[in-house]
Amino acid sequence: MREEVVVIVGAGQSGLATAACLTALSVPCLILERDDCVGSMWRNRCYDRVALHLAKQYSELPHAPHPPSAPTYLPKRDFIRYLDDYAARFRLRVSLRRNVESAEYDEAARRWRVVARNAEDGAVEEYAARYLVVASGENDEAAVPEIPGLEGFGGPVVHSSQYRSGSGYQGNAVLVVGCGNSGMEVALDLAEHGARTFIVVRSQLHIVSREIWLVAMFLMKFLPCRLLDALILLLCYFKFGNLSKYGLHRPTKGPMYLKKYTPIYPVVDIGTVTKIKSGEIQVVPSIKSIKDNCVTFSDGRFQNFDAIVLATGYRSSVKKWLKNDACLIGEDGMAKQMFPNHWKGKNRIYCAGLARRGIYGSGEDAQSIANDIASDYQSGK
Ligand SMILES: Cc1cc2nc3c(=O)[nH]c(=O)nc-3n(C[C@H](O)[C@H](O)[C@H](O)COP(=O)(O)OP(=O)(O)OC[C@H]3O[C@@H](n4cnc5c(N)ncnc54)[C@H](O)[C@@H]3O)c2cc1C
Ligand SMILES: *[C@@H]1O[C@H](CO)[C@@H](O)[C@H](O)[C@H]1NC(C)=O
Repeated sequence: MREEVVVIVGAGQSGLATAACLTALSVPCLILERDDCVGSMWRNRCYDRVALHLAKQYSELPHAPHPPSAPTYLPKRDFIRYLDDYAARFRLRVSLRRNVESAEYDEAARRWRVVARNAEDGAVEEYAARYLVVASGENDEAAVPEIPGLEGFGGPVVHSSQYRSGSGYQGNAVLVVGCGNSGMEVALDLAEHGARTFIVVRSQLHIVSREIWLVAMFLMKFLPCRLLDALILLLCYFKFGNLSKYGLHRPTKGPMYLKKYTPIYPVVDIGTVTKIKSGEIQVVPSIKSIKDNCVTFSDGRFQNFDAIVLATGYRSSVKKWLKNDACLIGEDGMAKQMFPNHWKGKNRIYCAGLARRGIYGSGEDAQSIANDIASDYQSGK
């Protein structure tokens, strides 16, 4: 049994930011990370062309502003380097290749008992921690819905977390399922690599541009939600026109309202709309059935495809290893309580980055958690 003050599960941006804030307050901590690197989501589970959706001033971690020379929208490569530098600068203690298999609160000892498996030798390691921080990410696992006949599809099927780039798909007919940010960007990438690209859009969605969304983020502090939504929709109308003739319908509630009160985040367009208008990417409705290579859609249309990319989302895996939720984690593996009270549970357990608030949210959570732990730790010493 190894004694630790704070154990943090996950070395993504949330875990790193929490560790950095604790280090700045002289609280010792250890990160346990399943993979063999920090920032593994960006390195190993995300396509090549991805760049951050928010401008750099909204995409930085505590104590580490991006330099003026950094691009406004950081490409994946730059953000990975930023995370590596961050871990090195604060000399964070990260134990790599440690998969946390369980964590349970021991009432008698007043400690969190964390069990991790060392992927190098398969050995089981046990930790006793005074504080536990869950930072294992809201996108840890691929989510794949039931699609009738998908198992029998006659070509490759990959999830967007395994998709790297469209090279190799040239001339192929490819169906992208799902129209969130991943689906829209994968479709664009495929079309740019010369694939005949189709995208399944089965629900209503808001599409904004980076510039409009940047203005919106800035005005969020000054304008009430309804007014801001009206402004965003007007700007979107000037930018894109009415997209319903292409099969893209907007929800009745505005994008800022949905971001604030629901898990729905708008699609930030980086060129997909232009390719939909030109017909290079075709929008199709939901899938009715799949037989061999032929996919039939709900409007009766059918078409042969060479490959399918499932951009059907992700989910948290916390429920698999955290034995008692301590009023912190809900059924969906995300923070149970509403923002801004979502980051703290009972018995000195915390969560960072589980409230769907992106990089900015990771930083805010990290700071709140570190301050809370530091004051408790110092008073108990
Ligand atoms: C394609 C894509 C693009 C995105 N673009 C943006 C963007 O532009 N802006 C933005 O703000 N957000 C974006 N996001 C959201 C983004 O995922 C999160 O902002 C961010 O990755 C969350 O960081 P995190 O540290 O909370 O989780 P993660 O980065 O997922 O890190 C969690 C870490 O925990 C580890 N882990 C999980 N379970 C265990 C376990 N049991 N034991 C040990 N280790 C474990 C994982 O290996 C992982 O390294 C994007 C997401 C995707 C998928
Ligand atoms: C867009 O067009 C559809 C029909 O083509 C119409 O029902 C809808 O009201 C239009 N939306 C706007 C904002 O003009």
